[in-house]
Amino acid sequence: MTTPLVANTRAELADALKAIRERGGRVGFVPTMGALHEGHASLMRVAGEQDVDAVVVSIFVNPTQFAPGEDLDRYPRTFDADLELCGANGVDIVFAPSVDEVYPSFRRSSRDVSEASERVETLVTVDPGPLATVLEGVTRPTHFRGVLTVVAKLFGLVQPDVAVFGQKDYQQLTLIRRMVSDLCMGIDIVGAETIREEDGLALSSRNRYLSDEQRLLALALSRALNAGVAASPQGADAVVNAARAELGHVELDYLELASPDLGPVPVSGEARLLVAAKVGTTRLIDNIGLELSAGDHNTAGSI
Ligand code: PAJ
Repeated sequence: MTTPLVANTRAELADALKAIRERGGRVGFVPTMGALHEGHASLMRVAGEQDVDAVVVSIFVNPTQFAPGEDLDRYPRTFDADLELCGANGVDIVFAPSVDEVYPSFRRSSRDVSEASERVETLVTVDPGPLATVLEGVTRPTHFRGVLTVVAKLFGLVQPDVAVFGQKDYQQLTLIRRMVSDLCMGIDIVGAETIREEDGLALSSRNRYLSDEQRLLALALSRALNAGVAASPQGADAVVNAARAELGHVELDYLELASPDLGPVPVSGEARLLVAAKVGTTRLIDNIGLELSAGDHNTAGSI
């Protein structure tokens, strides 16, 4: 285990990257919001397995992707443990900037982070387009503008050759691929497998909000996805019905079947089943890939 170099400012990051760049080194990048767990660790290892000479991880709780009333204030911050996990997974540089450093054009009226999502503005933002209005975008209409804007900024600062994102946040991954392609950013985007607990619960920084009882209820999400996969030989309707049957005890937000790029669900072939639900006050998301057989072609309940 090595201790990564920590850069808190743009200048420190540029300094840390200079030597790597000067010898023509390639950079792999894993953006995160900290509160790191084994899911994040797997992304770091995947980044290290690419054709890169250094791996950079950013830890930045991005205020612009939280709407007022979401969990920005209580988002877990565990920097020391995060740094240790980065060190144990071959990370060379940890970029952990302040809000000011990432959004310097903003004039601050208060130092209270709880107001940050209202205070932080950038005049130019990334418009995520129509894909940001479905699924997560229905309840979080400003979320993906914030995500794509900060990821574009981080890409500009780190200038990675390869960046790794989790399939856990499938719509985010899809939108980042679109941004990189539509805005000609020339970065290879790698989508890494979702890491789960043994009982199926997808690892998430937000799982720590769950009580023991809520954690058991939360298992409904992965059970529903597995039920969907098991029903995939019977076609789209069977998938949605089998999954829905598992979701009786959670507050379901959406259950949708879509094509792998989140377009209309195909009659047969590869598809993605996505679910979001609230357990107590904690909102959880999960998704899985499946192979549809041309069973029942009616696509009611899917996008
Ligand atoms: P965060 O939620 O910290 O996630 C950072 C990365 O870890 C994302 O690419 C996410 O998909 C991945 N990840 C989370 N849980 C995972 C799991 N169980 N298995 C595999 N990968 C997992 O996503 C964000 O931060 C932010 O939106 C960010 C992209 C950093 C922009 O602020």
